[in-house]
Amino acid sequence: MKEVLKVVDLKKSYGKNEVLKGVSFSINENEIKVIIGPSGGGKSTLLYCINFLTKPNSGKIFLDGVELTSPNVDLPKMREKIGFVFQHFNLFMHLDAYNNVLMGLVRVKKMKLNEAKEIAENSLNLVGIDKKLWNLYPAQLSGGQQQRVAIARAIAMDPRIILFDEPTSALDVELIGEVLKAIKNLALKGMTMLLVTHEIEFAKDIANEIMFLDNGVIIDKGTPEEMILNPKNERIKKFLGIITKEKENV
Ligand SMILES: Nc1ncnc2c1ncn2[C@@H]1O[C@H](COP(=O)(O)OP(=O)(O)O)[C@@H](O)[C@H]1O
Ligand SMILES: [Mg+2]
Repeated sequence: MKEVLKVVDLKKSYGKNEVLKGVSFSINENEIKVIIGPSGGGKSTLLYCINFLTKPNSGKIFLDGVELTSPNVDLPKMREKIGFVFQHFNLFMHLDAYNNVLMGLVRVKKMKLNEAKEIAENSLNLVGIDKKLWNLYPAQLSGGQQQRVAIARAIAMDPRIILFDEPTSALDVELIGEVLKAIKNLALKGMTMLLVTHEIEFAKDIANEIMFLDNGVIIDKGTPEEMILNPKNERIKKFLGIITKEKENV
């Protein structure tokens, strides 16, 4: 098994607030790991640190064995290999769906237009964005469509791993399924993924391993069976109880 991502003793503070208190884990090629845990526990901060959207205070991050936290690394080049899907889509509002996906290929990867177009079209097809939507702007698309364009944008860049930060939590309930289906399609294609989500059933279905991050520490990790069906940890039991109750109230 080839190791794609390795995080070692990662720490991050905002002022006196120690948000990540030494987080370590690794992900092999084709693996899907899911992070769950309470709000404010540091899940987004962890993903942001891995992609250097925020700078960790200490610890090491490796991608394909290359240390990203080393001062000698070509960080912009390495960051191209990490896809990121945000909770609030973060599409370029002034570009249509098609050009949102095309942009990185032409501007960042410096691809020839013909080659870039083919990849953009394949990526949009993969997430089920119909051709008649390609020339619409983000404001003209539903949240579910916008998020699928964001996923197409990430996969078009041919990343080694995609990080997802609660990709469905900004969506109306009836739009969640189409986004989860797109993510599931990537899973079937063998994409390596690290996913923060509150969709516990989906996590159970898709994850090789589930990690519970609480107060800046991974307090437990294991298979979906261990973590969801038979949680031993009282903190996790309570958390899952809360999530289930929220669902019942919808
Ligand atoms: N840019 C920031 N500046 C200051 N504090 C932050 C910033 N981002 C996150 N935090 C703090 O870090 C903690 C963890 O936040 P976050 O990583 O967003 O948690 P989660 O994604 O698990 O809800 C919270 O206490 C939050 O207020
Ligand atoms: Mg978050």
